[in-house]
Amino acid sequence: MRKVLVVGGAGYIGSHTIKSLSKRSYDILVYDNLSTGHREAILYGRLVEGDLSERDKLKSVIEEFRPDAIIHFAGFIEVEESIKKPLLYYSNNTVNTINLIEVMLECGINKLIFSSTAAVYGNPEKTPVDENYPLNPINPYGQSKAFVEKMLQDISRSYDFNYVSLRYFNVAGADPDGEIGQKYRKATHLITRALKAAKGEIENLEIFGTDYNTPDGTCIRDYIHVSDLAEAHIDALEYLLEGNDSDVFNCGYGHGYSVKEVIETVKKVTGKDFKVVETARRAGDAPELVANNRHLLDTLKWKPCYDDLEFIIKTSWNWELNPKF
Ligand code: UFG
Repeated sequence: MRKVLVVGGAGYIGSHTIKSLSKRSYDILVYDNLSTGHREAILYGRLVEGDLSERDKLKSVIEEFRPDAIIHFAGFIEVEESIKKPLLYYSNNTVNTINLIEVMLECGINKLIFSSTAAVYGNPEKTPVDENYPLNPINPYGQSKAFVEKMLQDISRSYDFNYVSLRYFNVAGADPDGEIGQKYRKATHLITRALKAAKGEIENLEIFGTDYNTPDGTCIRDYIHVSDLAEAHIDALEYLLEGNDSDVFNCGYGHGYSVKEVIETVKKVTGKDFKVVETARRAGDAPELVANNRHLLDTLKWKPCYDDLEFIIKTSWNWELNPKF
């Protein structure tokens, strides 16, 4: 049985990936500090509570488990927070990843799947954007991931070490079986905030900026269902286990929706109306981020199943109404 260490596996994307891994019979060990993740989200495999800054603990876990590969989800993800607290992002996302890679090299583990982000592109002039587009992040969150991508490139050239970096576009939705979903301390993402508004938990949903150079003036994003993204991790894992070289893949469907379109779809799916207020732009937002996903489809043979905004929102709504933890 192939063994996979899932760092940050108690989080939103990690827990969905664990569900996909379990369907393919992997032996799973989760390493997570539970700062934003949840013990109950880990449906399969064992959990070791630990932080990537605890090098000795991490090393003993890796030495004992001897995984065939590591999937690394642990990190902070809020653009706005990263502008307020850049060092938090450089330390947790960049420095802690250096710790992980150093320990991997010390233990002779040489396959890594890294959670990157569309935020590494910054504000791309052409969209859909492909993987060869120069990285030019416009916020510390994107920069913290871009630093890691550059390091990984250098490391893979100098050592017997291969990685796949997955650049996530806007991840949304919940497990279609309703077993897991996103649990957050504070809702900041558009779909989750719109669902909170539909539930009456927030009074007004704000639209951050209506003066962008897009057809309706609001930002456009490529929303990918979390279970399709989870499958991309399995495809990437198998690609590395087959002995292929390091690579980078965009993870999105290749088409986008504006903030206004998302809000209308939330109202339609939930059958609830709520107040929407147009406010100023939010710092660090790119007008349009849409993936060119040809590389993922052609090379990893990724087969998305849920490319449907209504379905994505339906699964999130179902989770909001029936959370299991
Ligand atoms: N938005 C609103 N009102 C809200 C929340 C968001 O108008 O209440 C807008 C934002 O300004 C943005 C769009 O909705 O234009 C999407 O915002 P999200 O906060 O949902 O997501 P982001 O695009 O900012 O960021 C997400 C992830 C990042 C990732 C990025 C890649 O959080 O990790 O997608 O596209 F890098």
